Amino acid sequence: MSRIVIPQMKKQGKGAIVNIASSAHLAPIPSAAVYSATKRYVRSLSLAMERELFKYNIAVQCVQPFFVRTQLTQFSKTLSRGTFFGTPVEAFTRSAVFTLGKTQETTGYWAHAVFSFLLSLLPEWLRIRIAHAVADHARKEWLKKQVEEKEK
Ligand SMILES: NC(=O)c1ccc[n+]([C@@H]2O[C@H](COP(=O)([O-])OP(=O)(O)OC[C@H]3O[C@@H](n4cnc5c(N)ncnc54)[C@H](OP(=O)(O)O)[C@@H]3O)[C@@H](O)[C@H]2O)c1
Repeated sequence: MSRIVIPQMKKQGKGAIVNIASSAHLAPIPSAAVYSATKRYVRSLSLAMERELFKYNIAVQCVQPFFVRTQLTQFSKTLSRGTFFGTPVEAFTRSAVFTLGKTQETTGYWAHAVFSFLLSLLPEWLRIRIAHAVADHARKEWLKKQVEEKEK
């Protein structure tokens, strides 16, 4: 996608690319290993692109949310409620878009920024264990929902 839009942005002398990573980049997540690895990749790609494209007046931003109430998290009661777990998508996007052009990386929402900061204080082995517990809990909720839907 970036390869398609960058030539046009260079011609017009401005542009913005927003890549959606996730807080999942903060630690390898057992039970969501590929997901967390790809989000780490997206962050690395975005930061490199940001420097490459800076001179063309093209902003590249990497958004790294925690849990937002969307289709993706709908299966889980835990991940789709409240301010931190399951931030309403309207509140999240309103806040995240405000940071475009101001910062190359953002969690997108204040509560996510607080949690990200607190997590960054922990050693990686502990972040992995916490992430594993959350992922396994969400997985159980997903499996339960599958069973409930089959029984309907
Ligand atoms: N929700 C969260 O808590 C959360 C947290 C961190 C990061 N993220 C990231 O945010 C991004 C958006 O997720 P979301 O929560 O907004 O999920 P979502 O509501 O399920 O939306 C996913 C979007 O991706 C599109 N899509 C899915 N597969 C596609 C494909 N193969 N080709 C093209 N488009 C495709 C879907 O299109 P259709 O509507 O046409 O199916 C939909 O518009 C994801 O990268 C996710 O990892 C989400």
